[in-house]
Amino acid sequence: MSDTAEAVRPGEGTAYDVEALRADFPILRETVHGKPLVFLDNGASAQKPACVIDAMRASFEHCYANVHRGAYDFSERTTAAYEGARETVRAFLNAASEREIVFAKNTTEAINLVAHSLGRGLLKPGDKVLISEMEHHSNIVPWQMLRDAMGIELVAAPVSDEGEFLMDAYRAKLAEGGVKLVAVTHVSNVMGTVTPARRIVEAAHDAGAWVLLDGSQAVMHMPVDVRDIGCDFYVFTGHKLYGPNGIGVLYGREDLLDRMPPFLGGGDMISSVTFEKSEWAELPAKFEAGTPPITEAIGLAAAIDYVVGVGLSAIGAHERDLLGYAMQRLAAVEGLEVIGTAPDKTAVISFTMKGAHPHDVATIVDQQGVALRAGHHCAEPLMHRMGVTGTTRASMGLYNTRGEIDRLGEALDKVNKIFGG
Ligand code: ALA
Repeated sequence: MSDTAEAVRPGEGTAYDVEALRADFPILRETVHGKPLVFLDNGASAQKPACVIDAMRASFEHCYANVHRGAYDFSERTTAAYEGARETVRAFLNAASEREIVFAKNTTEAINLVAHSLGRGLLKPGDKVLISEMEHHSNIVPWQMLRDAMGIELVAAPVSDEGEFLMDAYRAKLAEGGVKLVAVTHVSNVMGTVTPARRIVEAAHDAGAWVLLDGSQAVMHMPVDVRDIGCDFYVFTGHKLYGPNGIGVLYGREDLLDRMPPFLGGGDMISSVTFEKSEWAELPAKFEAGTPPITEAIGLAAAIDYVVGVGLSAIGAHERDLLGYAMQRLAAVEGLEVIGTAPDKTAVISFTMKGAHPHDVATIVDQQGVALRAGHHCAEPLMHRMGVTGTTRASMGLYNTRGEIDRLGEALDKVNKIFGG
């Protein structure tokens, strides 16, 4: 990985210049209800820097065609840009080969791909898939569908009251035997908990299980090296990484992807078709049926170049500063309780407020120009585990500032004035 802790932007010194970075995001100049936008819903989807918008626009304006199909210049150049994006993703994750990088629609589709192809190809009835209590629905429901279709068993490792991943309890689940796949999040979308990925993988491999990590909430906050972590699959989505929506990534170890049957059938994923039978294309085309998200891949590559240029470690350090500042400020808000206080967490704060429904909190702070997400955050089992029906969530990104956290604090004080917390 080309990430360096010091890097801010090439040629701009070593200090993290958040105002300069903010200038890269045109949308941050917008106002909401007459107030400057404070965007703190980055966990749901992040805003896009001009370089991403420009790269996609340039593709549409100057060189666009379908990929892998045409023998003409535009198609060849668009194919080169699309495959170049794959190489950018490979380098970003430090995967061994571009054959291990599959473009999908989003994380959800990438997990469904593994559930379908690994599930039907390499699992058998009675095999266990081990998830955790803090999974997003996208890492629960596909396994339930597989369970109902072919009789695998789905088990969940517990989390602590603070929202930590409990290694001992996880090891105990593995020791019960029968686990063939561990599928857990790298970072909780609700609480920001960073799970001990390397140790999870090590224990799973010792128990003879493969590991899928959901990196949807991780790749924008920290450098990720799939070979260092040792996982078998890693998935993430483009739109939370300051890139476009409509594109996600599945990293899979080549030997496993090779053994797995295709997910979707259609054009581009075959080497030959007769009415009797079809032969599959080589990796990664075998898993990319139909016209892929071409312009989205180009936009994703631009987003990756951008965050790598800023420096993932520098982004992480900035966000940790914001997290500490925000935790202090929110502690001063009467009746506010933070859900998820693991020591190792990203800048995501879920909270409840005494006497106020999460949706009301989000609606009131929106009047102050502050965007937060409220509800169960597509993690209903975790809500049950933490004893809440929902939370309000502030999720920070590379362009947020301490001043914006002050605005959040003031907006939450207003909530208390209304609800008398
Ligand atoms: N998974 C996204 C979130 O956590 C949508 O908000």
